[in-house]
Amino acid sequence: MRLITISITLALPLLASAQRFVRFISTDNKEYYGDAILPSDTTDASKSKSARVITGDILGEFTITNQAKTIKTLLSPLPNERVRTVRCVGFNYVAHSEEAGVSIPQWPILFYKPWTALNTPSDPIPVTAGYQTQGNFTSEMDYETELVVVIKKKAFNISDDEALNHVLGYSVGHDVSHRGWQIDRGGQPQPQYSMGKGADGWAPWGPAIVSTNIIKDPQTLNLWTKVNGVTQQNDTTANMIFGVKHLVSFFSMGTTLLPGDVIFTGTPSGVQLGKANPNWLKNGDVVEVGLENVGTCTNAIKYT
Ligand SMILES: *[C@@H]1O[C@H](CO)[C@@H](O)[C@H](O)[C@H]1NC(C)=O
Ligand SMILES: *[C@@H]1O[C@H](CO)[C@@H](O)[C@H](O)[C@H]1NC(C)=O
Ligand SMILES: *[C@@H]1O[C@H](CO)[C@@H](O)[C@H](O)[C@H]1NC(C)=O
Repeated sequence: MRLITISITLALPLLASAQRFVRFISTDNKEYYGDAILPSDTTDASKSKSARVITGDILGEFTITNQAKTIKTLLSPLPNERVRTVRCVGFNYVAHSEEAGVSIPQWPILFYKPWTALNTPSDPIPVTAGYQTQGNFTSEMDYETELVVVIKKKAFNISDDEALNHVLGYSVGHDVSHRGWQIDRGGQPQPQYSMGKGADGWAPWGPAIVSTNIIKDPQTLNLWTKVNGVTQQNDTTANMIFGVKHLVSFFSMGTTLLPGDVIFTGTPSGVQLGKANPNWLKNGDVVEVGLENVGTCTNAIKYT
């Protein structure tokens, strides 16, 4: 019996590297990291029902075990406080710069969100009273779908060619944006980003971090947004002005990027900003952001 058990154990396939890192609550109500097992008909990790448990640290040494656990609830792929810096890029697609009426940037435009802005792939996006309509100040809530880069290895002053060696993988993120606080009340002559984009829960991301083994070229992926089921954005990361390699390298020129840091790489066209009759997000609207080969985050706008 003992010999048979050993031979069966050895016969089980061991994965060399994780493919879709997820963090989830299982049916025992405990939290796990795992390598998501996809259903046969989709690559959307948010549809995964189970994952191989990962022990150790996905940003360091870890083991993918042969133990599969049921996924009850998917969390964001890393706890908020492990993401020390949330970098975001403004106007990284030509068509989005044009619809917003700004010039095409010559260098990447960087802003930050606090990590308290991070949110899971399914929880509501809270909108507090100060961001709701007040008299003639309209709540101009807008969506932005983005490819998210997750840093695995410290990076300082690295070249474009070295950049992907410092990347764990890719997620999809929603850069929730309030144009009223970003632009109308954002100050003159330059508006600002932080008051319009940094509120708690305004950066849903996930549903997985898909490794660079699976996505070898991040500039080939379809990304989209649906609001209440209707497609509003639909483009490809091939249209980024500054690609992932250059963003990672550029941001490292004098600033250390740390394991767990994430970079939201900018949104394509199709947002409400710049439209003649914008249809701003309202309480109860459901926003799905999606990225090919990664999956979707689906979060409702919730007035609190
Ligand atoms: C908006 O309302 C404030 C008072 O609540 C008023 O001072 C301001 O002129 C109004 N602005 C417009 C554009 O109507
Ligand atoms: C940055 O990298 C360049 C090129 O490899 C090198 O010449 C330079 O000394 C580096 N600077 C710092 C501060 O490490
Ligand atoms: C995006 O456009 C492509 C090509 O036209 C289409 O196949 C795909 O279904 C669209 N995606 C969404 C979410 O509408």
